[in-house]
Amino acid sequence: MSSNQPYVINFNSIGKSDIGYISLAEKETLPFVPKRIYWTYFTPEDVIRGHHSHYNLEQILVAVAGRIIVTTELKNGEKKEFILESPKVGLYIPKMCWRIMKYSHNAVQMCIASNEYDEKDYIRDYNEFLK
Ligand code: TYD
Repeated sequence: MSSNQPYVINFNSIGKSDIGYISLAEKETLPFVPKRIYWTYFTPEDVIRGHHSHYNLEQILVAVAGRIIVTTELKNGEKKEFILESPKVGLYIPKMCWRIMKYSHNAVQMCIASNEYDEKDYIRDYNEFLK
């Protein structure tokens, strides 16, 4: 279900240690119908990504490999830190939520997005976000 708050999603997982696992992002566990999926990788450890919010886009971030530290901030000043380090865990990021992300050298971040890419949907100025 969509929310104004970021929250962790625990995806169903099938498998066992001797054969490996499958994680499933099924419609029952997703807060929106995905329009697009993309992934980022090889982000240097000294780079902080994000620094933006979205007017309408909702996203789910998954560390399908490695570790991602995500700091979220809502317009009311509420800040949270999430450590993503399991391929069966996602982080829902609502619209109007400022975020920064730091990556381990081996991190691969999958992003499940509610809409097409649209640069006009970004708020990249922190003061504009707070208005
Ligand atoms: P951005 O969403 O700002 O990345 P992050 O939140 O990981 O820091 O996107 C980085 C750059 O890539 C930015 O210049 C916009 C561009 N971009 C596209 O051209 N198409 C896309 O689908 C996405 C997600 C980004």
